[in-house]
Amino acid sequence: MASKLTPFVFRNGPRALRQLQRAQWRSFAASAQTRSDSLAIHRDTPVNNPSIPFKFTPQNEELIKEIISRYPSQYKKAAVMPLLDLGQRQHGFTSISVMNEVARILEMPPMRVYEVATFYTMYNRNPVGRFHVQCCTTTPCMLRDSDSIMKAIQDHLGIHHGETTADGLFTFTEVECLGACANAPMVQINDDYYEDLTYDTTVSLLKALQNAAEATGASKGDIGLAGEAGKGAVTGNDRNVKSGNEINEQGRAYEAGGVKIPTPGPLSGRKSCEPAAGLTSLTNEPWGNETLRKDGAL
Ligand code: FES
Repeated sequence: MASKLTPFVFRNGPRALRQLQRAQWRSFAASAQTRSDSLAIHRDTPVNNPSIPFKFTPQNEELIKEIISRYPSQYKKAAVMPLLDLGQRQHGFTSISVMNEVARILEMPPMRVYEVATFYTMYNRNPVGRFHVQCCTTTPCMLRDSDSIMKAIQDHLGIHHGETTADGLFTFTEVECLGACANAPMVQINDDYYEDLTYDTTVSLLKALQNAAEATGASKGDIGLAGEAGKGAVTGNDRNVKSGNEINEQGRAYEAGGVKIPTPGPLSGRKSCEPAAGLTSLTNEPWGNETLRKDGAL
């Protein structure tokens, strides 16, 4: 019997061992998982429950009248998305009280508003830090090494996807395509896009924001949270940490407390999404019926 088994063992043994050495599985995603129930479920917390009153500011109420006037009066619920956005900018996140107030103003069942707010991921239904860093990891960004951008954020801030720093300054979120694939990899910080990033430029960007927040006192005390949820904090158009929260002519502030913050856009030296190595087409005078523009621009 043993003599019959010996050739079998010699023939199949190494094959079986080779199989054992090989990894028998591979994961489809290397990034952190977000449990889907966190997107749809509301649980009362001390900072987010229906007993916390919320009212729009008189200035925003004027804005709301203007927004609603864009829609036929019988369809004013069509204004639900801009109103939720306005509420988020004022309050810092889309709390249940913000949703209820929007439902009241638009005379909608609150559930209809909850459905919208839970469907679109740009509505933050939990407090976020003063700087909401959203890193895109969809295919074009992933192919241009968004993994190293994720790592730079994790290494520098010491937090993982879905977490906020202890000082309430940064919230880090991993997101799907933000529509700037030609300038991948990129992150969105509040309303600004920072593109063509590398590990090093990401770290310098975060450092600049930290220094600017420190220089303006934005990182101290309980003002980490964006909006009125964090006393004294700013969000939306006036979110930039600039002395006096003033906005320059371009509507963006690139300096705060003497600290220079990189201008939003590509950080590689590109102006937009032109070829990084110069023009590769339209380099000669066109021939045939084609003509150049008379102003010499082309
Ligand atoms: S894939 Fe990252 S912006 Fe489109």
